[in-house]
Amino acid sequence: MKEIKIGIVGSGFIADVHARSFLEVPGARVAAHCDVDTQRGRDFAARQRIERSFADYSSMLADGGVDAVVLGVPNCLHAEMALEAARAGKHVIVEKPLCLRLEEADQMIATCREAGVLLCYAEELCFCPKYVRAKEIADEGAIGKVYRVKQEEKHAGPYSQWFFEPEAAGGGILMDMGCHSIEFARWALGKPAVKAVTCFMDTVLHGERGPLEDDVVMLLEFDGGQTALLESSWALLGGMESVTSLLGTAGVIHADLLRGQGLKVFSAQGYGDYKPAAQGWTFPDYEWLFNNGYPQEDRHFVECMRDGSQPSESGEDGKAVLEIMLACYASAAEGRRIELPYVPPDDIGVPVEIWLRARGRAG
Ligand SMILES: NC(=O)c1ccc[n+]([C@@H]2O[C@H](COP(=O)([O-])OP(=O)(O)OC[C@H]3O[C@@H](n4cnc5c(N)ncnc54)[C@H](O)[C@@H]3O)[C@@H](O)[C@H]2O)c1
Repeated sequence: MKEIKIGIVGSGFIADVHARSFLEVPGARVAAHCDVDTQRGRDFAARQRIERSFADYSSMLADGGVDAVVLGVPNCLHAEMALEAARAGKHVIVEKPLCLRLEEADQMIATCREAGVLLCYAEELCFCPKYVRAKEIADEGAIGKVYRVKQEEKHAGPYSQWFFEPEAAGGGILMDMGCHSIEFARWALGKPAVKAVTCFMDTVLHGERGPLEDDVVMLLEFDGGQTALLESSWALLGGMESVTSLLGTAGVIHADLLRGQGLKVFSAQGYGDYKPAAQGWTFPDYEWLFNNGYPQEDRHFVECMRDGSQPSESGEDGKAVLEIMLACYASAAEGRRIELPYVPPDDIGVPVEIWLRARGRAG
């Protein structure tokens, strides 16, 4: 069996997740790593025992001996790095959100196809064992016809400054975690088309860090009549929440991704990497990587690379999520329901501008 060699780009939160996940993927190995922050990159490579560390992405593509790259870098870099990798003949695992513009999404999909490489969209919620089982039960008909998906992804806000910069992130909580909920709902329902969205958003907690939205509520209407009610927030204190309900005509399924593992801790001073968030009662998830579906996601992508099949989460899915997010910004900006397909105005730089402009007009 040919070993698939992976190059990870970035040394932050998600790079660490993938480095650890690939340890659990048979026949794959992280062989190279790259970060423009050379000290951070060297520390990361040493910590993760990655043989080769590069400061320059093009050099890693040329000399790193990798078959595929994982893009764990700020959102604004996803498109250009994916295109460069595809042109160098490397498969691409791109973190969410896929990119910032629909044209970029089209270009990424077309370029990967022409180059004969896979464009894998890293939406791990579709690989979480608890959510996979919930979907299996629903697909079996156990709760009748599913008419609504509810999904919430919330915490108190991100760690790196770039998440608060419109040019780097493309938007706030919608681009960061709203994309998880949107793709979860599409996947849970078997990916029907979205015909309209209605969205409300605001900046409720992090206004001093910039103008981006940090709290969002979305209502998605699907072909077939199902709806999804999605809430994403950077304004929830007390730790992260990822909860889901599938409501059917003959029953309901509730899933709480991060609780219920049976370990309860009270710490007055906090612990771990994110001490303030770990003060007081916490419920540490000792099987966090597995429960969040990251190794399963990477294993699936490697299997697809090996047998040439299309990944179940692909560039097309990432593009569909981006179009929904753009329509959500328009809905929040205009205070009305927006029908899809949605094409943003030509002069929009990054998605959140659609909403920021309307806010500016409103004074
Ligand atoms: N799927 C998930 O659960 C999940 C969770 C967190 C982040 N993400 C996504 O992963 C991506 C990275 O987020 P993060 O939280 O790891 O960010 P981070 O700030 O923790 O790390 C980003 C890293 O990218 C490096 N970098 C920046 N520019 C670079 C360049 N030109 N070349 C090489 N390296 C460069 C930085 O030095 C840093 O090490 C984002 O797109 C984010 O949305 C996904």
